[in-house]
Parts: sequence; C-alpha cells; structure tokens
Amino acid sequence: MKVNLLNRGFLTLLDFSLQEIRYLLDLAHCLKKKRQNGIIGNSLQGKNIALLFEKPSTRTRCAFEVSIVEEGGYCSIIDISSSQFGKKESIADSAKVLACFYNGLVFRGYAEKDLATLAKYSGIPVYNALTDSEHPTQILADLMTIEEFLPNKPLSKVKVVYVGDTNNNVATAWIYACAILGMHFVAHAPKELHPKKEVIEKAKQIAINSNATIESSENKNCLDGADVIYNDVWISMGEETKALTKVKLLKDYQVTMDMLLQTNNPQVLFMHCLPAFHDEETLFVKKLKYVK
Ligand code: NVA
Repeated sequence: MKVNLLNRGFLTLLDFSLQEIRYLLDLAHCLKKKRQNGIIGNSLQGKNIALLFEKPSTRTRCAFEVSIVEEGGYCSIIDISSSQFGKKESIADSAKVLACFYNGLVFRGYAEKDLATLAKYSGIPVYNALTDSEHPTQILADLMTIEEFLPNKPLSKVKVVYVGDTNNNVATAWIYACAILGMHFVAHAPKELHPKKEVIEKAKQIAINSNATIESSENKNCLDGADVIYNDVWISMGEETKALTKVKLLKDYQVTMDMLLQTNNPQVLFMHCLPAFHDEETLFVKKLKYVK
C-alpha cells in the first residue's frame, strides 16, 4: 500500500491505517540507508513547501528542511510571529494565499483547529509538525528507532511504557500509533495526568481490530517487561504557567537507573523526544550513552 504524501497531508496519526504506517516506515528506512550511502533523491523536484512555525522547533524543523531539500524540493521557513498569519490576516485567508505559491504546508502551532483551518482553506496537503494535541512525525521517527534497535522484534510485540505527562501531544500520538500497530502501551503517570478519556476511547475502539493493549497505571509494576521507557519534557510549550503544579505531580515519575532496572529487561531502550532538561524528568547519576 503506497502513501503519496504529495497528494494528501496528515493532521493526526489517525489519518493512517496500519498498512500505510508500515509503508511509511519502510520508505523511511530505505531513504535513510540511501542517504547514508550518499544517494539523494529527486521526488520533490519542482515542489515548494512552506514550514510555518508558531512554536519553536529544532529537530522537527531540521528534519523537514533537510529532507525536503535533499529530495530536490524548495522550502520557506516562516516564523509566524514575523508574518501576517492569523493576525492582520485570518488563517483561512493566509491559507488561500499560501496555496498560490506552495505545494504543501507544514505547520507547528498551538491549536489543532488552526491546523484544520489551514488544510480546509488551502486545499493543498498540510502536515502536522506538532500542535497542543498531537505530534505524529515524532512518533513515526521513534518507531523507526525502535525497529533499528530491536530488529528482531515486530512492533506488535513491543511494550512501551510512557512515563510522565501522558496527557500531552507526544503521549496522545503514541497512544494512537500503538493502537493502530497492535502494540502494548502503558501510560505510567499520576491520575491527574492520565490520557484524556476521549483519546483512550478512540484508541480502544481501534484496538478491537489491532489487538493493541492500551493501559494507564500509577503502579510501578507496570514497568515490568517494558521494551521501551519513553519520556518527554514535563512542561510542554505553552504550559509554562502550570510548571509548579506539574513538577509536584511528577516528582515520583523521574526516569532513573532504578526505574530502568524495574523493567527487568537488560535490553530496555530509554527514549526521550526532547532531552533538554537534564536532572528534571530524568535523573541519571551515571550519564547514559547518547545514541543518535
Ligand atoms: N510535549 C513537548 C514536545 C516537544 C517536542 C511540547 O509540546 O513542548
């Protein structure tokens, strides 16, 4: 099953079927190998893509920018704060204008509804590069990493324990990915930061066919047998005023060497989508080896 992302964008991981995610992962592995061997492609030749940033970005921005250019495309980086987007000019009007110049739009911002407005009024593919609700490309890249490090384990046999704020954008995307791919997902968090009810309901509906297990637990026993311990920053972009409350709620959910040992899996992978605040959501006496 081929997915042509030049014909369609994605606002959420729920836009993809299991077969489509599989196709994207295989394609990504293949492009990565080619790149390592110095082979670059031209699948985006003649295509112009705009990257719109309302929130800051390092990894996602670089990944989009470099991959577009290496596939022969052109991209404009638009810092929304220095444009008319959504201020003098409505998002709907900006979308129509941008569609006259570009073949696709990448958007990182706050509200999911702004992403939907861009898609509706531009009429061109729009790609979600993170909103308050979800971060699909992060999880696609994480799935690739898991396959690289656990080549003999099919994703459907992988248990991911997400520790920390399991009510945020990255956790939600993880829940949807695990539901679609038939994986075992555990949200290990205080109950105040468990995933939203509607997210779990959607995931459980998908899990009926995929055989995924989607759970939330405050009990440390849930760490047992984890293949991946996953972590994100405790305070997501835009949540700075909630910092004190969240730090208090999460203080017992720091990822430590002791926590990794409680998985009883010597091969456990520790993954973090933004390992910036060392000694906050993570605390390692002995520094872990940082793997690219
Ligand atoms: N949950 C984080 C993810 C950063 C990649 C945030 O939204 O700030």
